[in-house]
Order: sequence, then C-alpha cells, then structure tokens
Amino acid sequence: MSRTQLTIGLFGFGCVGNGLYEVLQKTPGFQANIKRICVKNKTKKRPIDAAYFTFDKYDILNDDSINTIVELIDNADEAFEIVKAAMQRGKAVVTANKKMIAEHLSELLDLQRQFNVPLLYEAACCASIPIIRNLEEYYDNDLLESIEGIVNGSTNYILTKTATENCTYQAALLDAQQKGYAESNPILDTGGFDAKYKLLILIAHAFGVVLEPDAIFNLGIDVLGELELKYACEKGLKIKLVAHAEKTNDGKINAFVLPKFIHRTDHLFNVDDVFNGIKTKSFFSDVQFFSGKGAGAYPTASAVLSDISALSYQYRYEYKKRNLTDLMAAEKEVLLKVLLSYEVNVGQNFEPYFEEINETYLNKKEGYIIGTLSLANMRAIKASFEKTSFVLFELNKGGTPIDGFKKQQVSELIFERV
Ligand SMILES: NC(=O)c1ccc[n+]([C@@H]2O[C@H](COP(=O)([O-])OP(=O)(O)OC[C@H]3O[C@@H](n4cnc5c(N)ncnc54)[C@H](OP(=O)(O)O)[C@@H]3O)[C@@H](O)[C@H]2O)c1
Repeated sequence: MSRTQLTIGLFGFGCVGNGLYEVLQKTPGFQANIKRICVKNKTKKRPIDAAYFTFDKYDILNDDSINTIVELIDNADEAFEIVKAAMQRGKAVVTANKKMIAEHLSELLDLQRQFNVPLLYEAACCASIPIIRNLEEYYDNDLLESIEGIVNGSTNYILTKTATENCTYQAALLDAQQKGYAESNPILDTGGFDAKYKLLILIAHAFGVVLEPDAIFNLGIDVLGELELKYACEKGLKIKLVAHAEKTNDGKINAFVLPKFIHRTDHLFNVDDVFNGIKTKSFFSDVQFFSGKGAGAYPTASAVLSDISALSYQYRYEYKKRNLTDLMAAEKEVLLKVLLSYEVNVGQNFEPYFEEINETYLNKKEGYIIGTLSLANMRAIKASFEKTSFVLFELNKGGTPIDGFKKQQVSELIFERV
C-alpha cells in the first residue's frame, strides 16, 4: 500500500508534544513532518526555533497544506473544539486526550462518519501498550469475555509506594507529585476518573458499546485507609486500582473502576510503579496479558508516532463491534465480594446493604465488613457516607471463588482486637 506524506499541525508542546518532536527527530525517513505548533503561553521559553510556534489555532486549522492534526494539549474542552474544527475541515486527527474522547465519543464517531476522516488515539489509554489496535484488529470477533487492568500510572505508583515503603498515602502522593507523576490537583487520577475515561474507550473497542462517563461507577484510592492497607499486607495481597469490563452470560456489559485486592497468582500483582497492565480474556485463548509504561514523554509519544504512521497507510478504526450490544447490566444484578471499611462515627448499620456477610471487625475508631453486595448498593453507600471505602475481592459469579482466593481464610486476620 502506498504511503501518504503527512504534514502535521501540532497542538501542545508540553511533556508529550515535546517528546513527539524528539521522537520524530530520532526516526529518520519517517514520512511526516511538523509544519506548525500551536501553544498557549506566549512568554514560555521553547527549546526549538520560535518560527515553528503560533498562538492562534486558525494558523493551523486554516492551513490547507496541513493534512494531519496531532492534539496534545492538557485541556479537554479546548481540545474538543480543536479536534472538531480539524475534522470538519477534513483533516485526520491523532489525540492522547482520554477525558476529551470519553466525554465526546458519540460526537467523535459521528464526525468521523460525516466528514470521512480518521481519528486515532492509542496513546489515550495505556500510553505505550498497543491495546486499542489489538482490540480493533486481533479481537475482531465476538468472543472477548472481559478486559481488566491497571490503566493509571500515578495511582499505581502511590499504591506501590505505600505497600513497599510503608509510607502514608499523603507522603506517597506528595512524592508522586514531586516526580511529575501526579498533578497538583490529583483527583482525576486518585478518584479513579482518569481510569474510568480509559475504560470507557476500551469498552467501545472491546464490546462496541459507547457509554457516557456517568454510566461507569468509579471509586479511587483517595479514601483508602490504614485498615485495608494493613489487611492486604497481612494477607500477602496488593491493592491496585483496577478498571474492569466484562460481558455477562446474557450479553450485557458490566463495568466499574475499583481498588481491588490482587493475589500473587494474578498477572497484575507484579505491575508496579508507573507501569500499566491489561488482561484480556476470551473464549478460546483464555487470559492474555499486556504490560508496559503507561505514561511519560517517550512511551506516550511512541504511541502517537505509531498512530501517525498508521495514518500514513490510511488506517482508521472501524468500530466493528458497534451496536452488537448496547445494554449495561443493571447495577443491582452485579454482585461484588468486597471489604467495606468505615469510621465508627458514621453511625450507620451497613449490614442490610449486604447479600451475604463473611466477617465483621470493629475497634473504637473504625470497622470493616467483608461480604457480598450489589454495585447498586455500593453506589448508594458511597452517595450517603463519604467516610467509607471499598476494596474488591472478586466478582461473585455464583459462589465459586477465583483460584487465588480459595485458600484465603478471612478469619485468619491477626489485627489486635480491642
Ligand atoms: N504526560 C503523560 O504521560 C501522558 C500520557 C498519556 C496521555 N497524556 C495526554 O496527553 C495530553 C498532553 O499531556 P502533557 O502531559 O503533554 O501536558 P502538558 O505537559 O501540561 O502540556 C500541555 C501543552 O498544551 C498546551 N496548551 C494548553 N492549552 C492550549 C490551547 N488552548 N492551545 C494550544 N496549546 C495549549 C500548553 O501550552 P504552553 O506550553 O504554552 O503552556 C502545553 O504545551 C493530555 O491530554 C494528557 O492527558 C499524557
């Protein structure tokens, strides 16, 4: 197939934009060149010739010689305006902006169709892990059963540090911020929103369902307390923030983002620090596992570069599974075995929310319940009681525990009782 020569207009020259520029310099012979770069701050010093830069987006959008837009800015609303205007002008687009994609996926699909232009976004999900392309091409059938993974590097870094260096959540968060892994306002990451945006995109390619962000329940790691961290430590488990989506037996999708106890037999157990890991499970191939760097200038730029290269071969996502199903499983039907921890002064009897209780624990300050409840009841508890947190053990699928947990006796817990 012949390659199209790409002339690129780049939006954003921060961590990823600068990384892409450097990666392109180190890839001689690549048939793409950056013609213009649009940035925001007029006083910032730039590491390359000032002639490249503009502060007016229309210098790029209205330049007919530019056939490809690479959008790498840090504002989702402004990014959508840029991407939409570019597609309306018939320009192909590559973006890494998961929040923008998740909030506008339906409109972006319409724009692709209406203006017959491709939009690629591999870097938006797990940076260097080529998961979207795999879901599009390799799992191009109806037999994918589930997808589950660690898709947010900064929360994984914080959890790894709290578990291995015995430091507090606040100290680990500060360290992540100082290293540039977490934003100064980290709630998008720590609250599980970033993971939810990525999961929404993965679901569109894995199962063909285009969801609104509010349809996916997300809990982050910001409310995790000492009790569950200690529980994990005593049981030899790790807590990871996991994004999960699966197809139920009746063809519906259930999906959520939750902290989860991970057993050492699980592939995700050794995905530490800022790494990401994704497990796919399909009917014939069973479990497959992808891991790699989920953030950073070069890993993210490498995914952007791969999308640019794919565009030069006229590649586009086909969303082949679109409309195969559009049903989300009712949250009251999704049963989860969890550890709920709470502060004693919350003053609520949580037991009626549970279908089954395996263990309870209480001291003067806090308590926990291990048992099975529905996703709907979890949502209800979270909506009413801020100082509660949940860590998932497993989905309850008729009472057969997954292998890793068969031998875990919850009553073995050796907390000091008061
Ligand atoms: N960093 C990662 O590891 C990573 C990984 C995966 C995906 N992403 C995604 O990649 C995108 C870029 O992230 P980043 O880390 O590179 O951000 P960043 O370092 O904060 O850089 C943002 C860039 O966007 C520019 N900008 C902001 N608003 C603009 C506007 N309206 N018009 C033109 N330029 C504008 C800024 O201009 P100034 O230079 O003038 O300030 C800056 O150059 C985000 O969507 C992010 O979610 C990042």
